[in-house]
Amino acid sequence: MIQTTNLTFEYFDENKENSNKVLNEINLNIEKGSFTAILGRNGSGKSTLAKHFNAILLPTGGKVYIKNINTADSKKLFEIRRSAGMVFQNPDNQIVAAMVEDEVAFAPENLGVAPSEIRRRVDKCLAAVNMTEFAKSAPSKLSGGQKQRVAIAAVLAMNPEILILDEPTAMLDPMGRSEILNTIKTLNRDNGITVVLITHYMDEAVNADRTIVIDKGEIVIDGSPKEVFKNVELLKSLGLDVPQVTELIYELRKNGINLPDDILTVEDCYNAIIGGIGK
Ligand SMILES: Nc1ncnc2c1ncn2[C@@H]1O[C@H](COP(=O)(O)OP(=O)(O)OP(=O)(O)O)[C@@H](O)[C@H]1O
Ligand SMILES: [Mg+2]
Repeated sequence: MIQTTNLTFEYFDENKENSNKVLNEINLNIEKGSFTAILGRNGSGKSTLAKHFNAILLPTGGKVYIKNINTADSKKLFEIRRSAGMVFQNPDNQIVAAMVEDEVAFAPENLGVAPSEIRRRVDKCLAAVNMTEFAKSAPSKLSGGQKQRVAIAAVLAMNPEILILDEPTAMLDPMGRSEILNTIKTLNRDNGITVVLITHYMDEAVNADRTIVIDKGEIVIDGSPKEVFKNVELLKSLGLDVPQVTELIYELRKNGINLPDDILTVEDCYNAIIGGIGK
């Protein structure tokens, strides 16, 4: 669905004299229908990478393909942007309309979609993010999590196959975060949307099928959350935390208590500890 071959990106200054290589030879293949989380410390290149997935940025070296379309093909830009929708951190910067349903109708209206089809899409997309009852509300009156769900619905109205979210929960309280995470999981699981989630929250990455850690513009760890979060020392050296459960198990193991090293959920943690004591 998303493929990069030796993707390299350098930011140049105005005179093109100095450059800053932010992505270095990234080779990546993200499968249709998968849920991938991307982690990395501040400035590691996560947003720069995400912006290559819908051609906001084009590689300075190597190639990016979205559904086998080269993002450097300017004739296909529209198709790429429609296939790969992007959601950013701050919902206030993404919402333009004064009423929720107008916000969701905005993109299909611009695409010249027939009014009856727009109505159908608006209803479907608001239902998908569980915001139907707020269709006539003013976005300014909503909570952060609700606004972000409207922003997601507005992207869904383009019928994208890929949803790229760049720290969509960074500005939300715990309640808003869990609303957004549940929405993302449902869209992936029930609607088959390919999800790429950039996040600072390790607990969110646990929900993904695949977790990729980047550092200094390179992929340093890539695997299932269970595989990735085993590397407690390495993750810490990369400026990242581990999920709380992983941290607890790590400390217990360090103190000689025999527990598996790939536990991620509170439930599994509970069972392992109780089971361990019972033995
Ligand atoms: N427009 C720009 N011009 C020049 N350099 C930039 C630009 N945007 C980002 N950078 C630099 O590129 C590097 C990677 O930035 P990027 O925003 O991709 O990191 P990030 O992993 O998303 O960080 P964060 O966790 O803070 O969002 C940083 O060193 C940053 O300073
Ligand atoms: Mg970023």
